[in-house]
Amino acid sequence: MVSSQKRIVILVSGNGSNAQAIIDACAKKAINGSVVKLISNVQSAHALTIAAKSNIPSTCIDHKTFQDRDSFDMSLAQAIDAAQPDIIVLAGFMRILSHAFVAKYLGKLLNIHPSLLPKYTGLGTHQRAIDNEDSEHGTSVHFVTPELDGGPVVLQAKVPVFEDDTADDLALRVLVQEHKIYPLVVNWLCNERIALSNKKAFFDGQELPECGYASD
Ligand code: GAR
Repeated sequence: MVSSQKRIVILVSGNGSNAQAIIDACAKKAINGSVVKLISNVQSAHALTIAAKSNIPSTCIDHKTFQDRDSFDMSLAQAIDAAQPDIIVLAGFMRILSHAFVAKYLGKLLNIHPSLLPKYTGLGTHQRAIDNEDSEHGTSVHFVTPELDGGPVVLQAKVPVFEDDTADDLALRVLVQEHKIYPLVVNWLCNERIALSNKKAFFDGQELPECGYASD
């Protein structure tokens, strides 16, 4: 058990319900860390209001004001580094990150993606699960590597897909699970129970299978 609390920076683009779940888990000491900064790339993101209500310093770095991805990522890295984080959590952060950015924080970057990876990387995951008549769908927490949504999975949660589901129904069902598994995995990283090595995820030194800790 790691005694000192880890410093967490959260990156968001939108609603911020996963950020809220992580902030709440820190407050309840279910995460051995504290959120020291929240950064959004969208000024209107509700997540910024969540940060303000929780007295968490926040800032918006609008990607649209940068000429290219690299200059945005450099500015983002400066804002992150100013908060001296141990861990960076992507919580609905809808930007592709440059290889240089990912390399700088390798092993410290977690993402949550609303599909059972490696299925459905990218956008529109809920509708794609419905269109393919999948009987189950879900969400994955994974370490971030340069491949989009391609880093090794630490933990997944599954939900059923019902016949009359809309993408919004499914998104809501998936979010409920996300709010459970993301704080758990963030806490594992805070307590140094999980690690990234050679593009594989490890839990207590054991390599995790492709679908992460809770494999069938
Ligand atoms: C979540 O479902 C998360 O998995 C997804 O965005 C939603 C954010 O919700 N992330 C991605 O699609 C990343 N590729 P939130 O803002 O309420 O946490």
